[in-house]
Amino acid sequence: MGYAEGAAGARPQSKTTAKAGRGSMDRIRIVGGRRLNGVIPISGAKNATLPLMIASLLTEDTLILDNVPHLADVALLQRILGNHGVDVMIAGKRAGENGDHGRTLHISAKTIVDTTAPYELVSKMRASFWVVAPLVARMGEAKVSMPGGCAIGTRPVDLLIMALEKLGADIDIEAGYVIARAPHGLRGGEVVFPKVTVSGTHTALMAATLARGTTVIENAAREPEIGDVADCLNKMGARISGAGTSRIVVEGVSSLHGARHSVLPDRIETGTYAMAVAMAGGDVLLANARPELLQAALDVLARTGVAVTPTNEGIRVCRNGAALAPVEVTTAPFPGFPTDLQAQLMALMTRASGTSHITESIFENRFMHVQELVRLGAHIRLDGDTATIEGVARLKGAPVMATDLRASVSLVIAALAAEGETIVNRVYHLDRGFERLEEKLAACGAAIERVSD
Ligand code: UD1
Repeated sequence: MGYAEGAAGARPQSKTTAKAGRGSMDRIRIVGGRRLNGVIPISGAKNATLPLMIASLLTEDTLILDNVPHLADVALLQRILGNHGVDVMIAGKRAGENGDHGRTLHISAKTIVDTTAPYELVSKMRASFWVVAPLVARMGEAKVSMPGGCAIGTRPVDLLIMALEKLGADIDIEAGYVIARAPHGLRGGEVVFPKVTVSGTHTALMAATLARGTTVIENAAREPEIGDVADCLNKMGARISGAGTSRIVVEGVSSLHGARHSVLPDRIETGTYAMAVAMAGGDVLLANARPELLQAALDVLARTGVAVTPTNEGIRVCRNGAALAPVEVTTAPFPGFPTDLQAQLMALMTRASGTSHITESIFENRFMHVQELVRLGAHIRLDGDTATIEGVARLKGAPVMATDLRASVSLVIAALAAEGETIVNRVYHLDRGFERLEEKLAACGAAIERVSD
């Protein structure tokens, strides 16, 4: 999958980056055993960028997003929005800026030419289903394909549909499509989620901004990306309070206007590199990272014996030779330990001095990395939603592959501590969610390179 480049000036910064995302058959080659030292810049959050781009559908005016990461998922969403008539212009870099600043997107949904999101596009990226909310809120109708199967469990959309119904949309499901209609506009209502859902909360929030009257969202997801989207929507003229808590109140307005917003730093990328440093040893500053976005994960790392220090520039992570202590962790909605760091923590615990237990409570079937970690020499036993990891003294490099992006990056982490060479296949999973991964790690001393056929 290649990047759809926008305006001139957004060209990749180096030879390594130039290849990023280009070849779906690319592999990453890693030779383990090197410590990491230096600075890793943390990019804008993928999981905020995607809903922020989708929020552009709510207004005729231009939404300007800064600090947007250069990722395959962003390029794909750009294509999907293009199908609805949205123009995305990628601004050039200013003098003196380097690849660490993220990009600026000018997104204009002045005229919506099509309210249908077809299966061919939605099936490639589940989050694109979320266009249903702004489309029905602004246009009074939307026809969006159900996302279909997914590598990490069934991932239904029933709660998103429930939220839209509570706001007055009529919903039909025909031939795999959700058809939402509200010809006279949505109206405020009470949305009570029976379980915490990020996708459901984004959907309710976006739909409620343009609904007549007040909406109350109970048991809302508290993930920082929800707060970031709410901040942006408020800059666009929405009246949202309580985002970041489990009760969000939205006073509907008749229209939204343009705004400029900078995407918050990626807490999952931050936690991933923190675990990479913990695995390889060394001393790295995760620049621009914000500790409050991932305190639960940083606390777990501290329990393993890794030194984690917030600084003015970001978070410093340091491990100098000391053994890693095992941990007991259960994933949970924010502010708990994120499911998106579960695979990476498991990779780290393969080298702990003792037995760890990791329980996955958010997604069923999110353990595809286990068999691949075992190929590298890990001792892991699965029992339902709990993995028991017995730390081993050494891992040995091997060819591996993974079926989602967090699993793929867990293999990179394991490879950093494995003896000899590891080849991680199917790099397109990494390109979906990690910007310039091999470049960032290589700059800190890792022996890592992208290999194209
Ligand atoms: C988002 C993140 C993903 C992260 C997940 C949990 C994005 C683009 N993706 O995914 O990286 O792993 O949050 O933090 O932000 N559920 C239902 N019915 C629904 C919707 C969800 O039962 O209608 C269930 C899911 O199957 C899952 C749980 O609720 O078990 C949480 O899902 P949700 O929070 O909605 O995850 P996503 O928004 O898809």
